[in-house]
Amino acid sequence: MISSNIEEAVILLNDGEVVAFPTETVYGLGAIAFNANAVAKIFERKGRPHFDPLIVHAATTDRAFALCANVTKIAERLAEAFWPGPITLVLPKIESIPDIVTAGLPSVALRVPAHPVAQALLMAVNAPLAAPSANRFGKVSPTTAEHVLQDLGSRVPLILEGGPCQRGVESTIISLMDEHPRLLRPGSIALEEICAIIGPIQAPDANGDIRLSPGQLKSHYAPSTPMQPLSDALPPGKGERVGLLALTSPSIAGYAAIEVLTEAGDLREAATHLFAALRRLDAQQLDRIVCEYAPAHGLGLAINDRLSRGCQPKQTELREPPAPK
Ligand code: TXA
Ligand code: MG
Repeated sequence: MISSNIEEAVILLNDGEVVAFPTETVYGLGAIAFNANAVAKIFERKGRPHFDPLIVHAATTDRAFALCANVTKIAERLAEAFWPGPITLVLPKIESIPDIVTAGLPSVALRVPAHPVAQALLMAVNAPLAAPSANRFGKVSPTTAEHVLQDLGSRVPLILEGGPCQRGVESTIISLMDEHPRLLRPGSIALEEICAIIGPIQAPDANGDIRLSPGQLKSHYAPSTPMQPLSDALPPGKGERVGLLALTSPSIAGYAAIEVLTEAGDLREAATHLFAALRRLDAQQLDRIVCEYAPAHGLGLAINDRLSRGCQPKQTELREPPAPK
């Protein structure tokens, strides 16, 4: 059910239930982070593997840092620059955060969302909320309450209405667990903006342990329709129904459906529209979707990351990786 009733959401959360709520990036599926049984429901309802840890959302920077065992100077500078907002910081966790939240890692991913409804909910419930994106695992993330309803339906007792998400792609995740900050997932805050505050940061570790950055699972954010990059794609064949996800206005004919992400060539606008456009194409029973990549700067990195994962063949079976030694 879609509702604007924050009090009801608080009652459900305190009762150990999950609630979907809007953030400026995508809608989240939240439970009180200290309630391990409630957090277990997030994994069940999403069909998410337990090795994929959750982001913990707090109302303020102070409350977020209270969940972490060691706040570094760099963390403080990033929080000051970007919180509330779409950056997630991975830091050493305090003992009392249940293992189910962090997939047994010694770290916790923290974020202070800016969306007024997320803020109101966090204040009213007066507890941190563990929340992944409110979609079935591996599918396209939801940027409206309606998307959540389509994906999760009766699996969620309440979806808080917050309008279409202003940012449209997930937060940028930075790990501060090592000496040098490392990008774990490009997202709504451009790398250039982050480097301007803390200097150069390390690229994602492509060969790294999947448990340390599980968002790096190859097929993630994928539509049900097969998708391929425009640069590799053959033009639509005779009788074939092909959809085009174009960055700016295309001059290519023959497509059964076209979505343009930004007429003006504004990458932030393109990011905002990305998931909704992908969902509209996915709903049209197309034979395939062809997508145009963005230039590799600013929000183009996050857009291309989601597109390239969406182009990977589906991982129909996900096995838990072997336990750490
Ligand atoms: O914008 C967002 O970040 C949204 C909204 C709801 O806040 N959330 C989101 O959550 O995208 P999710 O579950 O789709 O992605 C969370 C990712 C995990 O897949 C993992 O890559 C990373 O965050 N993560 C969480 N905890 C971590 C940890 N302790 N160490 C490393 N990575 C972690
Ligand atoms: Mg997700």
